[in-house]
Amino acid sequence: MTSTRNKADLFNAMGIGPVWELRSQDEPSKPDAMASGVGLDEMLPASLSLESLQEMVAVCKKCGLCETRKQTVFADGIPHAPLMVVGEGPGVDEDATGRPFVGKSGQLLDRMLKAVGASRTNNTYIANVVKCHPPGNRNPEQAEIEQCSPYLVQQIKASGPKVLLLVGRFAIQTLLNTKKPVGELRGVVHQVTLDGRDIPAVVTYHPAYLLRRPEEKSKAWDDLLLLKQQGLI
Ligand code: URA
Ligand code: SF4
Repeated sequence: MTSTRNKADLFNAMGIGPVWELRSQDEPSKPDAMASGVGLDEMLPASLSLESLQEMVAVCKKCGLCETRKQTVFADGIPHAPLMVVGEGPGVDEDATGRPFVGKSGQLLDRMLKAVGASRTNNTYIANVVKCHPPGNRNPEQAEIEQCSPYLVQQIKASGPKVLLLVGRFAIQTLLNTKKPVGELRGVVHQVTLDGRDIPAVVTYHPAYLLRRPEEKSKAWDDLLLLKQQGLI
């Protein structure tokens, strides 16, 4: 069990403030009955390396986001790492640098990961549902997600994570094939089934949402604890 001292350090790392007692800390995580119904991978060859996927994405014009992007944003971190984080789509900073989660949300994500001993320089691979920046930072549209998510599915297969952390509703709804809000889906470990293999998936709020609603950070902390409890990172 995490000592209060350690917990305080971890909360500070996340910028959360006072230490709350965690209700669900010792409860075993229940497997979720709703396995993913991802049927997104039919449109690409069965197995592609991360390198060939990245090359395909770099020249992709499947949706209108190609018109306004500066560059595609494929991934960051360690390919084949045990933890894979999936976000929504590149923001302005990511469009400018070509790397996911480098802006303010990314900085919070890094602090969240650090709190459970994870980092993109060590044991984490990071990608998004859409690989091109939606102009004006708008949400990705359903059609754009449908065009782009087969890359993500192949990317997960090629990277082969032991566990997924899905941040925000677009990653969650796409990979768990649901329309339910994040608040209804968190607290249990889901399974994303690809090629008959179940990959445990923990869901949490998007860091951009947590920056707007810091009072929700304690829930995100519970989610990270659930991730850590899987013993896979
Ligand atoms: N938000 C995301 O979901 N992904 C990024 O890469 C940056 C911000
Ligand atoms: Fe292609 Fe995805 Fe970019 Fe659309 S968002 S152009 S599908 S890489």
